[in-house]
Amino acid sequence: MKTSADNNTDPAMFRRVLGHYPTGVCLITAIGEDGRPLGLVVGSFTSASLDPPLVAFFPDRRSLSWQKIAAAGRFCVNVLAEHQEHLCRRFTAPVADRFEGAAYRLSQSGLPILDDVVAWIECDLHSVHDAGDHFVALGQVRSLDVEHPRPPLLFFKGGYGQFAASSSVIS
Ligand SMILES: Cc1cc2nc3c(=O)[nH]c(=O)nc-3n(C[C@H](O)[C@H](O)[C@H](O)COP(=O)(O)O)c2cc1C
Repeated sequence: MKTSADNNTDPAMFRRVLGHYPTGVCLITAIGEDGRPLGLVVGSFTSASLDPPLVAFFPDRRSLSWQKIAAAGRFCVNVLAEHQEHLCRRFTAPVADRFEGAAYRLSQSGLPILDDVVAWIECDLHSVHDAGDHFVALGQVRSLDVEHPRPPLLFFKGGYGQFAASSSVIS
């Protein structure tokens, strides 16, 4: 088994090992320059800094949605709830309109917030950094709230699941 990270790292091995690390699932929304809503599913969302308040995610260089979100210059992170796997599948499917059938409202600043998400975080795009075949996108937090304090959707080893509390309580 390989233990050293070098540029000969086997992609399948990389995916398999990193797949053992669980993530939440978020939908990054924005309004495109044509006025239509945009949505990109990411598992790479994380908080980055408290002062100033920054969050981050890692868009694929090939992502068409990311190019439009970056051009819009601001976005909303929608934290998906445990029962929203269908939304995740919908927003990763090759369909003409990913928002068709998806219930959402526009926030005070005009960004899409999907119904029933756990939380939302509105951001201005702070900066974009190179990260190999991905970018690191940093967002400056402008507004945020817990929408519904319910368990999040989780992604682990290529499948979806739910959080099972052992010692903490979700509030
Ligand atoms: C659970 C999950 C996590 C994902 N995480 C990311 C991510 O962090 N960054 C990314 O660019 N794509 C991620 N993707 C893939 C994109 O959502 C997917 O490729 C999408 O179809 C890209 O659409 P686009 O070409 O319209 O941008 C993820 C997909 C799934 C199912």
